Amino acid sequence: MLAVAVLVSGSGSNLQALLDASAGDPGFGSRIVVVISDRPGVSALERATRAGVPAEVVRWVEFGDRESFSVAICDTAERYGAEALILAGFMRILSPTAIDRYPNRIINIHPALLPAFPGAHAVPAALAHGVKVSGATIHFVDEGVDTGPIVVQAAVPVLDDDTEATLAARILAEEHRLYPEAIRLYAEGRLEIEGRRVRMRRAT
Ligand code: GRF
Repeated sequence: MLAVAVLVSGSGSNLQALLDASAGDPGFGSRIVVVISDRPGVSALERATRAGVPAEVVRWVEFGDRESFSVAICDTAERYGAEALILAGFMRILSPTAIDRYPNRIINIHPALLPAFPGAHAVPAALAHGVKVSGATIHFVDEGVDTGPIVVQAAVPVLDDDTEATLAARILAEEHRLYPEAIRLYAEGRLEIEGRRVRMRRAT
C-alpha cells in the first residue's frame, strides 16, 4: 500500500473522491495517511475527519515564504510516513526543496487542458478566451506552475451559455472520475516518466 498525503485548500471534493475510492476498493493501492490544509476551517478538513483520516493545518500565513512553508508541509507529510503528495485543490506553489524531497512523487490536478490556462484562474481564463473545449489535467509536479509531465486528461465541451460555475462543475465531475484512476495507476507503479512524457505500463 502506498502511503499518501493529500494537500488541500478548500472544499475538498477531489479529496472526497479519493477517500471514497480508498474506502470502497481494496485494489485502490493507496492509503491516505494525512490530509494537510494550508488554512484552517475548510470543509476538506471536515471530510478527512469524517473519514477517520488525520487532518493537519500548516498555515501559509505563519510562514509567509514558500521555502519554509514547503519544508513544513514535507515535514508534516513525512511524520505520517507519506511516500507521495497528492495535491487536490491545493492553492500554493511548493518550493524546489519539496520537489527534491518528493522527486516525481507529487501529483496535481488542474481544471484545464494544460498547457492551456495554467495558474489559479483556469476556468474563467478558458471562458474568456472562448475555447470550445476545456477539461481536466492530472500531472506530475515540477518546479514550474502546472508545467510537469501529464499523466492523463479529460475533455469537456464549453457551451454557449456556460458560466464559470457551470463549466467548473462539468470539469469537476471529470476530475472526480479521473483522479482516483490516476492515483491507482501511480500506486501500481504503472506510470513511467520519460522526459515530458508519461507512459502507462500494461497491467501484469
Ligand atoms: C478543482 O477544480 C481543482 O482542479 C482545482 O481546484 C478545484 C478544487 O476542488 N485545483 P476541490 O477542493 O477538490 O473540491
